[in-house]
Amino acid sequence: QYKPELSRSPQGDFMRPAIRTRKSSNTNGVGVQVEDTRICVVMVGLPARGKSLIAQKVVRYLGWLSISARCFNVGSYRRTNTPQPNASFFDTSNKEGERLRKAAAEAAVADMIVWFKSPKNLIAILDATNSTKARRRWIKDRCDSEGIETLFVESKCDEEDLIMSNIIEVKTTSPDYCGQDPEEAAKDFRERIRMYERVYETLDEDEQDLTYCKIINVGSQVIINRIQDYLQSRVVYYLMNLHIKPRSIWISRHGESMFNVSGQIGGDADLSPRGFRYASELPALVRNSAGDAPLTVWTSTLKRTAQTAAHLPYEKLSWKALDELDSGVCDGLTYADIEQQYPADFAARDADKYNYRYLGGESYRDVVIRLEPIIMELERSENILIVTHQAVLRCIYAYFMGSNQEQSPWMEVPLHCLIRLTPRAYKTEEERMFADVPAVSTWREKGSKAVHADTPEHSRRGSPSIVGMKKEGAAK
Ligand code: ATP
Ligand code: F6P
Repeated sequence: QYKPELSRSPQGDFMRPAIRTRKSSNTNGVGVQVEDTRICVVMVGLPARGKSLIAQKVVRYLGWLSISARCFNVGSYRRTNTPQPNASFFDTSNKEGERLRKAAAEAAVADMIVWFKSPKNLIAILDATNSTKARRRWIKDRCDSEGIETLFVESKCDEEDLIMSNIIEVKTTSPDYCGQDPEEAAKDFRERIRMYERVYETLDEDEQDLTYCKIINVGSQVIINRIQDYLQSRVVYYLMNLHIKPRSIWISRHGESMFNVSGQIGGDADLSPRGFRYASELPALVRNSAGDAPLTVWTSTLKRTAQTAAHLPYEKLSWKALDELDSGVCDGLTYADIEQQYPADFAARDADKYNYRYLGGESYRDVVIRLEPIIMELERSENILIVTHQAVLRCIYAYFMGSNQEQSPWMEVPLHCLIRLTPRAYKTEEERMFADVPAVSTWREKGSKAVHADTPEHSRRGSPSIVGMKKEGAAK
């Protein structure tokens, strides 16, 4: 398991690793050296080529890694003056249309430049077709003059069926066509694409000075040019792993363990008798949800997840990176023990649970860093069932749902519950399924010690996922 380095004080006590207190202006606290890098990712492509979907995923991924990113969607700027244009608005011989579209692009770029004035903001995505060389050159010049790097990301796709299904799936329900007949909307959208096709110029040889990544037919071919630094290559690597095949990710905590029953954290305990019952019922729960779909099961290296997955009739893989958050010197203690033996730590964890690092152990922030390869592999994979632990599950869930860092460590994830996450065009759908096997609740409300009594009924009915911070409400 990943362990930050520990050092000893002259008295022999453990001291917190340096990284916990290191807060310099050129790191974002997750070890990413950001120096003065600011990148504008400029999307390029005809309508309905998945640009907005790619842009949103990149923002969510970077946000999860604590890299401040934001998408500037030129379409939403354009809608302020032309909410529901028909295809002729996009005809380049329509002078007024041209003027309004350029004005929308200028407004988005101007806002982006203001946003970059804050030193914590690192990556902006300029989401528009940016379909001509002239438009791309204009963006590059504007960014150069502000010291902002540009990374052009073109999505090219000539698979007619896919384009048509994109139009039906997302375009006919777009605000541009709100209240209109879906068939008429689809027809008009096809016409809009035709307008763009007349002037569209793919990234080519005369643009070899640009840094770009060209994704052809959803990654069946990827061409990269002049990638310059760490952050750019990280974004490009992420893009190379994306696919759009329909699939789900199932996540479950291990069955109730003997430590869960006694209220101890960490450790490598066996399942309790009720935990073993959950393990026996899990295959049916999974089959009910997944049918005969092929699946791969991922577990941690700890006994309780392997025991939980024992009867699942699928290929299995165990990952060290899926082991529970390391509670360091508190491993094996109850929350009440921690409050008594380490009162300052107990309070510090409540005050900032995401960043608090156990003495000799990990924080939620640390867990996110070690989970990054898991997320990358998940993006590349199809159906996966992950049997893991409370804190790890919260981090994976936060990635897919875009939950914020303050709230995600407080999310209530009951034992003996299978969660199905299904990525859709612009959001992830969630479904919760409970096994009919009672279990203790290991959830601890802020300021409390956790009771470790049987889970209350309300939590076993698929209630809101984040109930830990009642006053602040659910995560976005
Ligand atoms: P517009 O220019 O009209 O805003 P867009 O290019 O931003 O269009 P999206 O709104 O993102 O298109 O389209 C989303 C659809 O594109 C989703 O159904 C998604 O599955 C699909 N999609 C995602 N990635 C790709 C890709 N690389 N190529 C083609 N389609 C994709
Ligand atoms: O109690 C079960 C458990 O998985 C512990 O092993 C772990 O320390 C804890 O949950 C993580 O949850 P929290 O971050 O809320 O303490």
